[in-house]
Amino acid sequence: MEPILNIEHLTKVYPDGTVALSNISFEVHPGEFVVVIGSSGAGKSTLLRCINLLVQPTEGNVTFKGKKVNRSKSKQVKHIRREIGMVFQNFNLIDRLSVLNNVLHGRLGYTNTIKGSLGIFNKKDIAEAESILERVGLKQQKYKRADELSGGQMQRVGISRALAQKPRLILADEPIASLDPASSKNIMDHIYNICKEDQLTAIVNLHQVDVALKYATRIIGMQHGRIIFDGQPSQLSDKVIDEIYDTKKPPLVNAQ
Ligand SMILES: Nc1ncnc2c1ncn2[C@@H]1O[C@H](COP(=O)(O)OP(=O)(O)OP(=O)(O)O)[C@@H](O)[C@H]1O
Ligand SMILES: [Mg+2]
Repeated sequence: MEPILNIEHLTKVYPDGTVALSNISFEVHPGEFVVVIGSSGAGKSTLLRCINLLVQPTEGNVTFKGKKVNRSKSKQVKHIRREIGMVFQNFNLIDRLSVLNNVLHGRLGYTNTIKGSLGIFNKKDIAEAESILERVGLKQQKYKRADELSGGQMQRVGISRALAQKPRLILADEPIASLDPASSKNIMDHIYNICKEDQLTAIVNLHQVDVALKYATRIIGMQHGRIIFDGQPSQLSDKVIDEIYDTKKPPLVNAQ
């Protein structure tokens, strides 16, 4: 099977000289549920942002469905991006808009800019947005303002907006980091089940190893901008976890 995503020799150096990614290569196949783990600053967010070009890679290539994302013209980028749904830690909703309108924002990649900016969506888009909200148990809340929701509900809107894009790939950057344990389970269950039902591929950044082990079909462990583990959850030994989180490293001491 052709990979849906191919990352080749990806390097990102930020303008201040920080090397966030250093020569990363891997392929993702359709239907995989990849969880990326690694301590703070390992480069997990930078990796996801390079995939949908929120961040321009310094070197290397990102190929999505056979198209080189980082070598595409802006119109093509718009077409590629709408097939990649993003889910964020802080939800990134528009507070003053209704739940339904936030979800409809996922359709902007498909409508013309003027209609989109005026918030004019067609009946089909609205019906689809409503059916997505029903799937995540939010149909009753569709006219509520986004800022009236609980964190878990906000994230279900975030997921719904991503689904409204009709994505093939879901990128989720710590989708449960701001949620309590019960909401976290609910959100991970929704993401996992929807990906399975709709045959979507997912890459999810997580801090919690136990959650990664529960859902991932494959785990990628990052440290200092490099991949130091890429395998099945069952292969992730305590030794590897210690390496990924650097727990064995002695604290820095002053040489004097
Ligand atoms: N815009 C930026 N400019 C400069 N350096 C940046 C920028 N964004 C991230 N970095 C740096 O790049 C490195 C990787 O950051 P990144 O946010 O990708 O890590 P992360 O694994 O997502 O961390 P966390 O778990 O804390 O979210 C860090 O050293 C970070 O300080
Ligand atoms: Mg991050």
